[in-house]
Amino acid sequence: MEALIMEEVVKAFGVVRAVDGLSLSVQQGEILGFLGANGAGKTTSIKMLLGFFRPDRGRVEVLGKDPCDPAARIKIGFMPETAYYYPFLNVRELLALYGGLCGMGRESIARRTETLIPRVGLSEAGKRPLRTYSKGMLQRAGIAQALLHDPDLLILDEPFTGLDPLARIQLRDLILDLRRQGKTVFFSSHELSEAELICDRVAILRQGRLVSCGSVRELAGDGGQNLERIFLKVLGVDAQGGRLA
Ligand SMILES: Nc1ncnc2c1ncn2[C@@H]1O[C@H](COP(=O)(O)OP(=O)(O)OP(=O)(O)O)[C@@H](O)[C@H]1O
Ligand SMILES: [Mg+2]
Repeated sequence: MEALIMEEVVKAFGVVRAVDGLSLSVQQGEILGFLGANGAGKTTSIKMLLGFFRPDRGRVEVLGKDPCDPAARIKIGFMPETAYYYPFLNVRELLALYGGLCGMGRESIARRTETLIPRVGLSEAGKRPLRTYSKGMLQRAGIAQALLHDPDLLILDEPFTGLDPLARIQLRDLILDLRRQGKTVFFSSHELSEAELICDRVAILRQGRLVSCGSVRELAGDGGQNLERIFLKVLGVDAQGGRLA
């Protein structure tokens, strides 16, 4: 069964067609990397998957439901590209707040918090307010927040950005673990090496349109190219940033 479906989706902001006829589906239990240059339409697509924006045209479905349906939303974990958390809370208080909003009971919030804080490497910083956190530490808090209610579908907007090498390895392992549990992970990224390592499929977006989609092996063809080369090729640019003929 599909965890999410986008069919001929269009979303424009004035004259800018941020998403322009995008059709994409992700199977349950799949890890999909959503790639594209700055401004390609990744975050706009994600916001439609979450029901934050309505598409101008086309259809969006998550877990068999409308993205605005609370029954779908409760099963989705989301980590935004930039998170603005209450600065005076510490990470435990942050998770208690979000867990409460998700309707979780105190005991399950406490249990999940104790599992997730070490998992994202925040044990040492657990008592400090978030305003004292570095960028990568806030990113780690965001990952814990997205996973708190044990969602079936994870939608992560650039989860690897700002993470140090150890945190990247930990996040990679965590995403692979989620797949083993049958969860679906949809993440946008500029980190092609991470996408290459863990994704079942990657989808490459250019000016709001899907220009390539498949496993890295399928996209590489006989040439056995790496994802960086494939990415440049499908976007029609060379390694110096110039257009290919
Ligand atoms: N709220 C908005 N109002 C006006 N234009 C917007 C809005 N949100 C996005 N856009 C425009 O839509 C296009 C796609 O933006 P989007 O944020 O989806 O790109 P992205 O692929 O996530 O880029 P990045 O990799 O930089 O995060 C851009 O041209 C952007 O300027
Ligand atoms: Mg974005």
